[in-house]
Amino acid sequence: MSQRQILVTSALPYANGHIHIGHLVEYLQTDIWVRFQKLRGHRCIYVCADDTHGTAIMIGAGQQGIDEETLIARMQKDHVDDFSGFGIEFDNYGSTNSPENRALCEEIWAAIRKAGLVVEKEVTQLFDAEAGTFLADRQVKGTCPKCGATDQYGDNCDKCGATYGPADLIDPRSAFTGTTPEVRTASHLFIEIERLHEFLAEWTCSDDHLQSEVANYLAGHFLHEPLRDWDVSRPAPYFGFEIPDSPGNYWYVWFDAPIGYMASTRQWCDRHGEQFDDWWRSDQTEIHHFLGKDITYFHTLFWPAMLKTAGFSLPTKVHIHGFLTVGGEKMSKSKGTFVRAATYLEHLDPSYLRYYYASKLNPRVDDIDLNLDEFITKINSDLVGKVVNLASRTAKFVEKTGLAIKYPDDGGLFQQAADEGQAIADAYEQCDYNRAMRRIMAIADRANQFVEHAQPWVLRKDPDKAQELQGICTIGLNLFRQIAVYLAPVLPRLAEQTSELLGKPIVDWDESQTPLVGTPVGKFKHMMTRVEKKQVDAMIEASMKTEDNGAAESAVPYSDSGQPLADDPLAEICSFDDFLKVDLRIARIVEAKDVPKADKLLQLTLSLGGDRRLNVFAGIKAGYQPEELVGRLVLCVANLAPRKMKFGLSEGMIVASGPGGKEIFLLSPDDGAQPGQRAH
Ligand code: 2FM
Ligand code: ZN
Repeated sequence: MSQRQILVTSALPYANGHIHIGHLVEYLQTDIWVRFQKLRGHRCIYVCADDTHGTAIMIGAGQQGIDEETLIARMQKDHVDDFSGFGIEFDNYGSTNSPENRALCEEIWAAIRKAGLVVEKEVTQLFDAEAGTFLADRQVKGTCPKCGATDQYGDNCDKCGATYGPADLIDPRSAFTGTTPEVRTASHLFIEIERLHEFLAEWTCSDDHLQSEVANYLAGHFLHEPLRDWDVSRPAPYFGFEIPDSPGNYWYVWFDAPIGYMASTRQWCDRHGEQFDDWWRSDQTEIHHFLGKDITYFHTLFWPAMLKTAGFSLPTKVHIHGFLTVGGEKMSKSKGTFVRAATYLEHLDPSYLRYYYASKLNPRVDDIDLNLDEFITKINSDLVGKVVNLASRTAKFVEKTGLAIKYPDDGGLFQQAADEGQAIADAYEQCDYNRAMRRIMAIADRANQFVEHAQPWVLRKDPDKAQELQGICTIGLNLFRQIAVYLAPVLPRLAEQTSELLGKPIVDWDESQTPLVGTPVGKFKHMMTRVEKKQVDAMIEASMKTEDNGAAESAVPYSDSGQPLADDPLAEICSFDDFLKVDLRIARIVEAKDVPKADKLLQLTLSLGGDRRLNVFAGIKAGYQPEELVGRLVLCVANLAPRKMKFGLSEGMIVASGPGGKEIFLLSPDDGAQPGQRAH
């Protein structure tokens, strides 16, 4: 395997709010990916920074009676503490308010000017006279001009979906002072991004730069018509960098924010004697951005356009994830589910959340749900019950003897798990951590069955069985260590504890391929404790009391991609009675097999609860691997007349969307649904 050079970023958190569990989905997703790449021996650096400019910071500082620099320095310290509390390890953590960032903004701006892409236009904007500032779309609230819903932002209505400008709102109010804003006109600088349309249409669809649903979304929502000019300047007063060739105007925060990725890299290069161009102007380096779906278009349209114009490398891949819901709902302050990172850390072990999110994350843009009951069960049954338990039930019996000199016959268990290594690595590589965790837990299940059956706690009572006992514990501890290697990107603390216990550091993925023999075993120390419901309850209660810090929840809601209705008109009206004839049920896939002779088919066994099983042939081979389907819940048409096919009888149909081929998406219920339940 040749060594890759990889630069990785997460979106830069705003300096106007604290890190919360919603943010952590992304930072943990990225940190796991980076740790995985490092463990595989690649050269990988992870850079990030605080996003510090804009009106919100300026007004926040004014309200607190401090200057902006003080505010952003304080917040940066808190962010860094929160990240490190969760084991998120950046190679460099910078700030967009840095000299490196200013210099790079100037360089990129000069290139955009030189390419003749900048035009000047008059813009009418709302102005908060009390705060002395122009207001961004989301800093104005009022009544939707279309449906009359109150309390809507100035860009779109979350009740009826209408899009408009802030000046269209009825009874607009400034989000900062509550006063009625004035309408003022100022001259702004725009980038004519349409001139890069052809390049962007090509780039967004090629070489797997984007997940397919993201590419479809861009094609259907932006690239099907001319791209609008992008307004990149704001008149004074504004906290940011003044544009050198346009005094009194500042770059809009979204212009300098992504350049912060580069500025943070430059700081890292300067500290390590590396060449910046080896990272940002070299086809030998992969660039991977991780971000949330709300900021898709900044990173997939504007950002590639800026990079292309200024002659820098384009992203190799933009990995986009969904939002976090808690108990199926948006995080809520009043329900205590808007949990700050620091509050979480006061009550719970960070490893729990690292593992829980890993068990949920997949390469799709779907939202992920934190179900607190499931959280408790998963940690207790997987991490404590299956993983740590392996060590705690074996290590103490070999404290004095160490591991056996020769690895005993384990019936092929170690080798079987070693052979799984590649599939687990592929799942990490593809950001399919859910699949990786399921495979690792299957290894843990087999290892536990082995220990359960061998009963070292019984053997130890018989002095004649000392050698057998050492052999059993050597196997148990090696299987445990193998799991700790596979879990190391997710649970770095467990990897350290394992290294300490067995006296050999886990620094390479290949440690999973050969068993340890003849080494001493340290004294077993507790590795992880069970989660108690009362700890979770205490965290929720504390979150209800945490003062609001004005942290913006999500920005722009995601408009869904998909086939426009015009291309795929709705079917004829169907009566309610006709609809009721279709018996839609939740089903669990309990078995999935390839049908080798069929191009498109997988053979699935569906459980409808109890003993009810259905055999179904589904045309989803191009989109899914059989092993990733086992265990998952789907929606099925359970009363479809059985169909005799070449390969056997198909007794139902599972529900999926998409045009077909790789573009096929199974429908799944939210957590909590049970096999056999009727869907209506
Ligand atoms: O949405 C946000 O939280 C932004 N602060 C992300 C910026 S990412 C990058 F472009 F800088
Ligand atoms: Zn509306």
